[in-house]
Amino acid sequence: MASAWKADAATFWMQQSARLLWREAPTQAQAGDFTGTAHVTWFADGRLNPTESCLDRHAAARPDACALIWEGQDGRTIRLSWADLLQRVCRMANALREAGVAKGDRVALHLPAVVESVVAMLACARIGAVHMVLFGGFSAEGLADRLDDGTPVLVVTADEARRGAKIIPMKRTMDDALSRATGDSVRTVLVLAVTGADVPMTAGRDRALGPLLDGADTACAPAILAAEDPLFVLYTSGSTGKPKGLVHVAGGYMVWASLTHEVAFGCGSEDVFWCTADTSWITGHTYVVYGPLANGTTVLMYEGLPSWPTPGRWWDVIDRHGVTVFYTSPTAIRAMKAEGNDILEARGLDSLRVLGSVGEPIGEDAWTWFHDHVGKGRCPVVDTWWQTETGGIMIAPAAGAVAPRPGVATRPLPGVEAVLLDAAGVPVVGEGEGNLCLAASWPGQARTIWGSHDRFVATYFATYPGHYFTGDAARREADGYFRITGRVDDVVNVSGHRIGTAEIESAVMRGEGVVECAAIGVPHGLKGEGLVVFAVVQPGGAGEAALKALVADAIGRYAVPEAVYLVADLPKTRSGKIVRRLLRKIAAREIDALGDLSTLADPDAVGRIIAVVQGGG
Ligand code: WT7
Repeated sequence: MASAWKADAATFWMQQSARLLWREAPTQAQAGDFTGTAHVTWFADGRLNPTESCLDRHAAARPDACALIWEGQDGRTIRLSWADLLQRVCRMANALREAGVAKGDRVALHLPAVVESVVAMLACARIGAVHMVLFGGFSAEGLADRLDDGTPVLVVTADEARRGAKIIPMKRTMDDALSRATGDSVRTVLVLAVTGADVPMTAGRDRALGPLLDGADTACAPAILAAEDPLFVLYTSGSTGKPKGLVHVAGGYMVWASLTHEVAFGCGSEDVFWCTADTSWITGHTYVVYGPLANGTTVLMYEGLPSWPTPGRWWDVIDRHGVTVFYTSPTAIRAMKAEGNDILEARGLDSLRVLGSVGEPIGEDAWTWFHDHVGKGRCPVVDTWWQTETGGIMIAPAAGAVAPRPGVATRPLPGVEAVLLDAAGVPVVGEGEGNLCLAASWPGQARTIWGSHDRFVATYFATYPGHYFTGDAARREADGYFRITGRVDDVVNVSGHRIGTAEIESAVMRGEGVVECAAIGVPHGLKGEGLVVFAVVQPGGAGEAALKALVADAIGRYAVPEAVYLVADLPKTRSGKIVRRLLRKIAAREIDALGDLSTLADPDAVGRIIAVVQGGG
């Protein structure tokens, strides 16, 4: 009986809530569902501070055990015990309070992969401030858009970041962003010295963070939050409009982070867990910070790129620190595979126990290489499907419980009701493909889009009423395993970066003489997908280089298309809709399989576009 089953579900979730340290334990699990305005709460009457689960309880039980190991790309290593990490977080929390940050205020964090990026997130959580972490690769305009949306009172940035041989001018970009932002919410900018470079400081607004930390107290009473109070806002892209700030909350998100980290990787307090993601992505939030720390797992952080200054640097990091669980992206795996096996075979990698992959489809080639050569056939490869919106892993072969298979995310984790729906909303039963939806809430789901609950409902719950629609399609195989087949909306996944084609198009449209354009994704050997733009430009208007520069300015260098083709017109239906399917095939050079062109307004346009692509520009 459905109701009896739901009663058991409540028991399950209440048991899971006990993973956290609560000041007041919750008495109820889920309330609300995906119908109507999709207002869902979890553990709503519980009260807690997430950092007490991540820090205080471990600092009390095993103060000297290792909480965090950080290695810089210059080889410098920092090891922090639970007691050390708690003290650092408290100092930063006191510094934020001293700078005027109050509970509920947003704080923008714009930092490279240094220890302080983790410390600053936890420090916000300590005082009940809502962090919004901003990627170091965003352009000034990309940052300004998010500052205007999230209206933080304070920004923490760095003088500069190191990235391989490059120096990234973080403070300069943030200054530029603040001058472009139309809002004036930011009262204070705290600047962390990473390279020690001299950077301009705006009097009355900018302060050096180091001295503030030195002077701060090492104890900080945690703010006590309601389970549904926001913990952070994190921006991601969708098929329409500006990036949206997904809101994750203090209680349910933390339960999901802890549960999924333990179950997907079989991870506990004896592990050294390395998730290579930057803290500015949801993967970094959940699996560099909140999940492993809640579970008392030692977190490894490395500052740099896989192969800098020498190939195999990441393998050295694994050997040097005895990493047991290594969680990375298909893009990184493909790049390391391309270096050849000699690099790898020179390393032991004996400490590894479980391997994980996230962010994009891992093809069978990369999977098999990861399994055979990195894991030496001994470590399960956990291909984890999830999203910024889901807060944590949703579909994955839980280590030790579900047999992995190359390129297949396998089974939903406990509590996840994954379903496939066809275009009409009819469930695909048994083997077959459909749009991947979640038929019921789970504690880690984003609760809303910052500033626009209407957009939240319209984006995720309007396509299939009563269901959360992921934007991905999947195939259920004969044995029930889910194979993710890719996005079905206008989102392209470049090296794990989620990019809305509408954002690319609106940047390109600013170009001189641009009449219309279409951005699409095409398969790319290293990046998974690459972006290609087709643009119709008036004579004498912008060229390819100028249009690429517009994208770099509007979003960031990571979103710059592989190619911009200047064409005379775009393929359209008679009702004027751009036929992107055709553009994808032409850009991927699959011109034998274009199908029926007779429904196009001007079938001859296709030949002209092919000529441009084949001519190389
Ligand atoms: C989109 C979410 C998951 C956290 C990092 C990215 C794609 C993610 C997989 C996977 C195939 C995957 C989906 C998803 N994706 N993991 N294991 N296999 N595709 O989070 O930036 O919110 O992107 O990444 O298309 O919808 P995100």
